Amino acid sequence: MTDHRQGFSTRAIRAVSRPPAVDQQATSVPIYQTATFSTADADELGAIATDAVPGYIYSRLDNPTATALADAMAELEGAEAAYVFATGMAAIHASLVSLAGSGDRIVCTTSVYGTTRSLLTTVLAGLGVGTDFVDATDLDAVDAALAAGPVRVLYAETLSNPTMVVVDHAALAALAHRHGAAYVVDNTFASPYVCRPMELGADLVVESATKYISGHSDVLAGVVAGSAERIREVRRVQIDTGATLAPLSAFLVLRGLATIGVRLDRHAATSTALARWLERQEGVQRVVHPLLASHPGHELVARQFHGASGMFAFELSGGRHAAKAFIDALTIPARTASLGSIHTMVVHPPSTTHRQLDDGALAEAGIAPGLLRCSIGLEDVEDLLADFAAGLEAARGAVPEPVTA
Ligand SMILES: Cc1ncc(COP(=O)(O)O)c(C=O)c1O
Repeated sequence: MTDHRQGFSTRAIRAVSRPPAVDQQATSVPIYQTATFSTADADELGAIATDAVPGYIYSRLDNPTATALADAMAELEGAEAAYVFATGMAAIHASLVSLAGSGDRIVCTTSVYGTTRSLLTTVLAGLGVGTDFVDATDLDAVDAALAAGPVRVLYAETLSNPTMVVVDHAALAALAHRHGAAYVVDNTFASPYVCRPMELGADLVVESATKYISGHSDVLAGVVAGSAERIREVRRVQIDTGATLAPLSAFLVLRGLATIGVRLDRHAATSTALARWLERQEGVQRVVHPLLASHPGHELVARQFHGASGMFAFELSGGRHAAKAFIDALTIPARTASLGSIHTMVVHPPSTTHRQLDDGALAEAGIAPGLLRCSIGLEDVEDLLADFAAGLEAARGAVPEPVTA
């Protein structure tokens, strides 16, 4: 307690550092906004630091709010364990580095998020990890790529960004395992409410919790789920690289996660209604939504998904300038480049999320110049329909930009 012989600053620091002992359980997970935790003695500090006993010492390693989120995610993904990160990219990076090092090879689907592709072809390639890209809907091609030499990881997405390609996760997991590789799946576009790759044989599931898991586009976070043994390795990478999820961010993700079911039901209902309507509109070349009968993976979706999210893509026949005119005419969506939020977001992947890709890589990934990716929010469907109708009107009247030499 207060020792009046001590100086004012010493007393101030001690006075503000007495967390209350609370006997009752809080109904929400408290924000443990602290970098450090104290221990009874030096031995206990050493034991926790070396993982000999459970506990907390430093929030880069573990923090109770972050651990509560990791435990919740493990349960919802159907995994033994999980670990959380500052962003989805940090989660993907740590997962891959936990599995592959210099001289190793990864096989990755061609339909993959642009920054993930860039991580593989620049950062990991620079560290000596090679990646071969393959169409993951073609199981023979995947088998051949895996057979071409030792492979540590087969990597795919539940719903690919931005072309909504659906792959057979049970078949891909079995193929990966037959060739001694781990199967890693990015479940960001679906969320564990819609698809649980662990139940289909995946070894690690990675997610940007910035999207549907938190749901309100007000926090950045990432998650990896898998067996306790694999998550131990992922955590080791995180401890040394340091992309720690802040306690406040963990709290915000937990708060959003509570309503994932009601949010996703509404996202799915509204996105399906808009996709069905777009299919009938002039100037729309194709609509790619997992719940439409026209989706090439429709039958797989029925077997491996539980409904859909708010994600779909559509292609305007007027190309790049029509796509930009459509976006500029919209009044409800903000012109931004994320997804999985209460806010509807419409993006033009060739000029935003996939800007790192040259024309050849865009074509290889099936991204046409007039492609638009929609993440439908929780606004009223009638308002979004009226806004999209105005967007189509503008797209039909758009004049191609003059070609400059
Ligand atoms: C499919 C997918 N995976 C990973 C990420 C990366 O997530 P974050 O921005 O949280 O790092 C994104 C971001 O848009 C994404 O769309």
